[in-house]
Amino acid sequence: MNIILIGMMGSGKSTAGRILAEKLKWKFYDLDSIIESEQKMTVTEIFNQKGEAAFRELEKQALAKLTGQTNCVIATGGGAPTQDENWKSFGEKSAVVWLKSSPQVLFQRLEHSGNKTRPLIKDVFSLEKIFKILNEREMFYQRAQFAVETDGLNPEETVEKIMRLLPLNP
Ligand code: S3P
Repeated sequence: MNIILIGMMGSGKSTAGRILAEKLKWKFYDLDSIIESEQKMTVTEIFNQKGEAAFRELEKQALAKLTGQTNCVIATGGGAPTQDENWKSFGEKSAVVWLKSSPQVLFQRLEHSGNKTRPLIKDVFSLEKIFKILNEREMFYQRAQFAVETDGLNPEETVEKIMRLLPLNP
């Protein structure tokens, strides 16, 4: 099986995913990084030069290429679950885990690292903006089989919580 981490920007998918894969001795894939290395452009450059729709298409293709892999942890970008086709690529044998954080915590985390490099929040970054995006996304994130509340947890604790919930043995 695979573990797919979904959730908002700043919810810690990449950091937790890397630690989780290490503990399980599984492969780790970060969808945004795959797209960036394939395109030789950053996500921001892709948004600026090609637009969001083109990025969503690249995201879809990158994810579809991972279908058929087993024993891997995949950290998706925050918008991936909004695309119906991506749920097909997640696959029936995958555990989809939503890393669920409050808008306040997301705002704080992104303020310290990340708001400048994320195209959807780099121009207008406010708590209201995070609320708005989360509000639009929640219905998609709720499709996950598992939800892990991450407020107040560090990445290690988040990973332990995921492992207890699934449950997984390293
Ligand atoms: C996006 C989240 C980003 C990245 C892109 C779009 C989104 O990934 O895919 O900027 O739509 O929420 P992270 O969730 O890893 O920041």
